[in-house]
Amino acid sequence: MARRRMIYEGKAKILYEGPEPDTLIQYFKDDATAFNAQKKGVIEGKGVLNNRLSEFFMTGLNQMGVPTHFIKRINMREQLVRMVEIIPLEVVVRNVAAGSMAKRLGIEEGTPLPRPIIEFYLKDDKLGDPLVTEEHIIAFNWASQQDIDDMIALALRVNDYLSGVMYGVGIKLVDFKIEIGRIFEGDFQRLVIADEISPDSCRLWDIETGQKLDKDVFRRDLGNLADAYTEVARRLGVLPRSNGTVKGPKLVQ
Ligand SMILES: Nc1ncnc2c1ncn2[C@@H]1O[C@H](COP(=O)(O)OP(=O)(O)OP(=O)(O)O)[C@@H](O)[C@H]1O
Ligand SMILES: [Mg+2]
Repeated sequence: MARRRMIYEGKAKILYEGPEPDTLIQYFKDDATAFNAQKKGVIEGKGVLNNRLSEFFMTGLNQMGVPTHFIKRINMREQLVRMVEIIPLEVVVRNVAAGSMAKRLGIEEGTPLPRPIIEFYLKDDKLGDPLVTEEHIIAFNWASQQDIDDMIALALRVNDYLSGVMYGVGIKLVDFKIEIGRIFEGDFQRLVIADEISPDSCRLWDIETGQKLDKDVFRRDLGNLADAYTEVARRLGVLPRSNGTVKGPKLVQ
């Protein structure tokens, strides 16, 4: 295969130049990181699962009229996406108290929230992705008030879609993070969901047992992360055929 130009290597993915202008190829690695990359590991098969799962969620969102950067999956680990200008904010939606919010505010993990809470974090690893307010976002020009309103609307639509899909397979969507990007069309810009939607960026709890099926399994050493993601993929019917269950040749007698 011809060598492609690498554009960026992040913690979980590599971006390559795409075949058409304004496209990118996202390659999903097996690397797992937590706590701003202080904890690192390689989870065999994670990239394949996240590529499939992100394809599944982004395709569903596109079909519902929620715009995303996703164009098509190329192979086990790669997908073609539209290049966007990433807004330097992580948008978090929470339905149940957990993680950093539970800790920061002293609220017991698992407490249901009266309505979805949206938070913005500045994408800056050196600063540890700090929580920021709308005032900060506007004052420092990371996004406009109109962008913020559009990001909130998009995030809530993703929340409705994802919670419903997860509920249908017995999983509670506790919280998730998305990244949003700008696409320029002439004098106009529109916002689309970018990056990935996968168990790396969601908290997913089994409705019956409370079992964690997301990256907290890795963060908190609760077991095998690939098994948890495989369970999510299996329930959603998006398990790649060759994952885990490949059997050797059978002796015919
Ligand atoms: N459609 C897109 N166009 C341009 N950049 C994108 C697009 N989708 C995702 N990205 C960016 O590509 C990178 C994906 O790599 P990865 O998720 O591994 O990064 P990361 O280690 O989390 O680092 P960071 O998000 O802080 O840059 C991210 O920087 C993400 O913001
Ligand atoms: Mg990332």
